[in-house]
Amino acid sequence: MSDHYYITTPIYYVNDKPHIGHAYTTTAADCLARFMRLDGVKTRFLTGTDEHGQKVQKAAQDAGTSPQDFVDGVSQNFAMLFDALNISHDDYIRTTQARHKKAAQHLWQLLLDKGQIYLGKYAGWYAVRDEAYYAESEIVDGKAPTGAPVEWVEESSYFFKLSEWTQPLLDYYEKNPNFIAPTSRRNEVVNFVKQGLRDLSISRTTFDWGVPVPGDPAHVMYVWFDALTNYISALGYPDKTPDFKTFWPASVHLVGKDIVRFHAVYWPAMLMAAGLPVPDEIFAHGFWTHNGQKMSKSLGNGVDPLRLIETYGVDQTRFFMLSEVVFGADGDFSEPAMIQLLNSKLANDLGNLSQRVLSMVYKNCDQETPAFGAFTEDDERLLSQANGLLELVRPALRDKLAIHAYVDAIWQVVGDANRYVDQQAPWTLRKTDMDRMKTVLFVLMETMRYIGILIQPLMPESAVMLLDALSVPISARGFSNLTVADMLVPGRPIQKPTPIFPRIEALAQDKQ
Ligand code: ME8
Ligand code: MG
Repeated sequence: MSDHYYITTPIYYVNDKPHIGHAYTTTAADCLARFMRLDGVKTRFLTGTDEHGQKVQKAAQDAGTSPQDFVDGVSQNFAMLFDALNISHDDYIRTTQARHKKAAQHLWQLLLDKGQIYLGKYAGWYAVRDEAYYAESEIVDGKAPTGAPVEWVEESSYFFKLSEWTQPLLDYYEKNPNFIAPTSRRNEVVNFVKQGLRDLSISRTTFDWGVPVPGDPAHVMYVWFDALTNYISALGYPDKTPDFKTFWPASVHLVGKDIVRFHAVYWPAMLMAAGLPVPDEIFAHGFWTHNGQKMSKSLGNGVDPLRLIETYGVDQTRFFMLSEVVFGADGDFSEPAMIQLLNSKLANDLGNLSQRVLSMVYKNCDQETPAFGAFTEDDERLLSQANGLLELVRPALRDKLAIHAYVDAIWQVVGDANRYVDQQAPWTLRKTDMDRMKTVLFVLMETMRYIGILIQPLMPESAVMLLDALSVPISARGFSNLTVADMLVPGRPIQKPTPIFPRIEALAQDKQ
């Protein structure tokens, strides 16, 4: 197991305001980064914005502002969203920053010096919406396979000798079966590369909003050449900084399924050509629709994550996104489904558990963690389940990025703890056997200690509320504290409990 972890999100185009799709990738990456940090792994987490290219230039034109003013504003909106979502990124890269341009130009020059770049002429299809070139064979009914409009482009252009990397890439996929995940995405990529790759046009001359090509200022770099470089420019490339040495190659580039080709084909080929190591994994998650429809600017049906945060809370919004769908599969957003999930898993399952246990402790145990007697088989069973959670969820998260499986495993124990309360009926024991009642309440509090520590990556603020309510010291909230040795200490004072996950009343209608 590696002792360091570098996770990245795509850098988002600043042509429009952020929606739930952008919130999703960054929140998922945040959950993984927080998990690794709590697990004692040296972690670096990068997100940011992709600010060049024709699409962004057009958006600035439409808004009647200069491209730089425009990108400053929209990039700020993304940064504010990530603050509101409690994202714990270590760095925020913007491709208009000097450090990034320097890195992109250095990489270009290196590839040129190695004979990997040549000047030619591009004649073919281009979709501004996707910022992608398409082959004639990919055009369906005059459109890109994504449905984006295409235009015919003929101009002088530099090319990257991508064709030379067809076989090395196929060999690499073969030797590293986990490089592209999930498997369906891997198969797509392998099939695409097997058809043979064509050299890639990597510069444009018909507009100027991009990184200038070194030595030929009539050209700006193709936005994807510039954008992909962000993952190393943020580490200080081309300087051999301590960050670069520690964190490159990346552990995982987390992306949506729409941009797998760029990350799993172009980027590793560029790195191989430059003599740089290739990332460990490209993981592509699925896409969100809204009430069954694709979210699009023209339909105006993008889900605003800031509104969800204001209405339901930041942790509730995070929890919904991360637990509603199998990570990797597509998902649909509907507000009634969100309310239903929050009420059942948060208000009913975890919220009720903590509220009823802590209220009983507060009322019947002198407002302190109760003393406990010998554990019964039932007590041991619940405690050992809680104790086994980390070993269960660690491989699910680290190796498979199965965020939903991690949530399910924890909620399995939440469910068992609720059944245990019902079976043990501490409210009855209160009249018959106070000592046994205290032991039962202790077992429940100790189980919740594990749950509280483990939900920190999912719901950082609510986890703090729960751990505070249990009087777990701040210094004892890492995964290394998920042991019997760090068991709660009887006699510690407990504050009057307040509900952590209030019930949400159903909305009359699904608001847009
Ligand atoms: O592609 N469901 O930026 P972009 C889930 N700048 N995720 C979604 C989504 C949806 N409906 N819509 C967007 C770009 N995403 C390039 C990336 S990286 C070097 C350059 C998420 O603003 C998902 O992560 O179009 C997707 O891959 C990304 O936003 C695309 O963001
Ligand atoms: Mg896009």
